[in-house]
Amino acid sequence: MNVLARALCILLILIGAVQGCGLWAAEGGASKGKRLFEEHCMVCHGQGGKGDGYRLFNPPPADLTSPAVQEKLDAALLRTIHEGRRNTAMGRWKYVLSDEEAREVLAYIRSLSR
Ligand code: HEC
Repeated sequence: MNVLARALCILLILIGAVQGCGLWAAEGGASKGKRLFEEHCMVCHGQGGKGDGYRLFNPPPADLTSPAVQEKLDAALLRTIHEGRRNTAMGRWKYVLSDEEAREVLAYIRSLSR
């Protein structure tokens, strides 16, 4: 292979890698939270987080898009996600989600209100 062909080859690999990185970055952040939400929370809280997943619990799953929830501080919501809520179907997720994953899910929940 001559030098030019080799340089072209390296360039193509670099472009490929950069595009790969771009896609990877787009998958991260809020969309990672989305994936986690769909995997763990959607059954109860519904696809859009409106509490319209599994409605037969008493109390029913919270509407995560409502002002009542969105007005709460991150710390309060994270605590509920970590510890769950007594005498409700909201379980504790601290053994399933890492701190970082809980924050990613919360970022997704925040994005639902907009
Ligand atoms: C088995 C059903 C179920 C699943 C699964 C579930 N939840 Fe819940 N969640 C509930 C119920 C029921 C409530 C309402 C509790 C109440 O009324 O006090 C609730 C409440 C909440 C609240 C509190 C809202 C507030 O007003 O403070 C948050 C935040 C929340 N859920 C987030 C999540 C997240 C994030 C997940 C996934 C990791 C999840 N939930 C999975 C049933 C569920």
